[in-house]
Amino acid sequence: GKAESRPKYPRSLPSLPIIGSLLHLGGNPQLHLLFHSLQKKYGSLYSLKMGSHYMVVVSHYRHAKEVLKKGNTFAGRPHTVTTDMLTRDGKDIAFASYSPLWKFQRKQVHAALSVFRKGTLALEKIIYREAASLCETLRTSQDTFLDIAPEFSRAITNVMCSLCFSSCYKREDPDFEATLQYSQGIVDTVGQESLVDIFPCLQVFPNKDLALLKRCVEVRDRLLQKQFKEHKEALGSDSANDLMDALLRAQLNLENNNSRLAQPLELTDDHLLMTVADIFGAGVETTSTGLKWAVLYLLHYPEVQRKIQEELDQKIGFERHPQLSDRQQLPYLEATISEVLRIRPISPLLIPHVALTDASIGEYTIPKGAQVIINIWSLHHDEKEWDKPEEFNPGRFLDERGNRLYSPSPSYLPFGAGIRVCLGERLAKMELFLFLAWILQRFTLEALPGQSLPSLEGKFGVVLQVQPFKVKARLRAAWRDGV
Ligand code: HEM
Repeated sequence: GKAESRPKYPRSLPSLPIIGSLLHLGGNPQLHLLFHSLQKKYGSLYSLKMGSHYMVVVSHYRHAKEVLKKGNTFAGRPHTVTTDMLTRDGKDIAFASYSPLWKFQRKQVHAALSVFRKGTLALEKIIYREAASLCETLRTSQDTFLDIAPEFSRAITNVMCSLCFSSCYKREDPDFEATLQYSQGIVDTVGQESLVDIFPCLQVFPNKDLALLKRCVEVRDRLLQKQFKEHKEALGSDSANDLMDALLRAQLNLENNNSRLAQPLELTDDHLLMTVADIFGAGVETTSTGLKWAVLYLLHYPEVQRKIQEELDQKIGFERHPQLSDRQQLPYLEATISEVLRIRPISPLLIPHVALTDASIGEYTIPKGAQVIINIWSLHHDEKEWDKPEEFNPGRFLDERGNRLYSPSPSYLPFGAGIRVCLGERLAKMELFLFLAWILQRFTLEALPGQSLPSLEGKFGVVLQVQPFKVKARLRAAWRDGV
């Protein structure tokens, strides 16, 4: 007989023309939770229509790894109104589709980050400087309950300013305040599935968010242009001092060597600027959000905080500050960071991927152009992979004797994987480790007494945001006499 196999598509949510499955989504703003719960009815791989976009939702790690590791098959990105506005139509890295130029941009940033890990810029030292300054702020306000979020944003923003522009801001600097403000504005408006992104035609209507985003982008561009001009004028023959220098050099090299390339690449000024802006944007909100989640969980689980402090006291003591080389010696702190990134993945749906050709996931056919959403939330809360997934338990990331970091399940991808894997994974882990180690060596974090603890529920957006909360950082006994 004819065994002609018909393509088998993922099960699809019922949909109506134009509005697609939106009615079914019921306006739930917590998209990661909604997608997670739809598995019960539709299985771990299902499809839906967002407006006119065909979208596949992946909830199991086997499928997720297949998507992420299948070369460039799923390395496309969708165009959206907001990200196009943010990135000058995808001239950055994160929201640009796969292309030789995108590959070149990634490679340059990757190389610069490796160089800066050591060498003159020494990211590690920059983080020490910012951690010291953060601890000083906490010390001077130790008797008050403080919104720690802006302090984290300041510290991380300064790390990224040093990396991108070798500039470091004082608190009162107007450019710095402008930077903090526009970053927040962008996070508030670049929703992954905001209505304008689903219905581009809505753009013609006045839209408060879009106007805010536009203003933020203008401020960002003004500051970026200023840095660009200064860097271009100062570009000497000695080694690159920061990411912007490194990209300016790459641009020059490319211009000189293009005649020898089979397919010439053009890194325009726009591409250069959007790449820097991208690293800045991807680096600040994610990492400070990670720190906020960590602190919030420590408030909810004081015994975890105590255990980290015991480990710090034993392994580091009070005579010196924690260093990157102490990571191996502080497995409980490392495990806590891993557990925070599991239980509250900062980017719960990654960034949408797009199938660049007709493709497959498992036994299912995926048409070219389909958007593929990987629900990291589902991977990290899969009951078959994690014992009591809603329980915060750093111990699950430690071996039996509790002294080595251990990977308990393959269903764990806080930074994604494959050719689109997060470019800043190493830097982010460095920052999370060092900031937390410095803070907890010196301070005990306390929640407002007599009130219920701040909620652990996140708010879905470009990052899984933490609701504002206050915390008191009490100087630990060993530091009170001015050590
Ligand atoms: C992409 C996570 C910090 C730069 C991503 C993705 C995730 C992620 C999940 C999407 C992967 C995908 O689409 O498959 C995180 C987390 C961070 C963090 C959890 C902090 C705890 C950083 C930092 C930088 C950075 C510090 C900058 C140095 C990027 C870039 C991309 C990206 C450029 C886009 C990569 C591409 O599309 O090719 N990150 N990230 N990230 N991240 Fe991070």
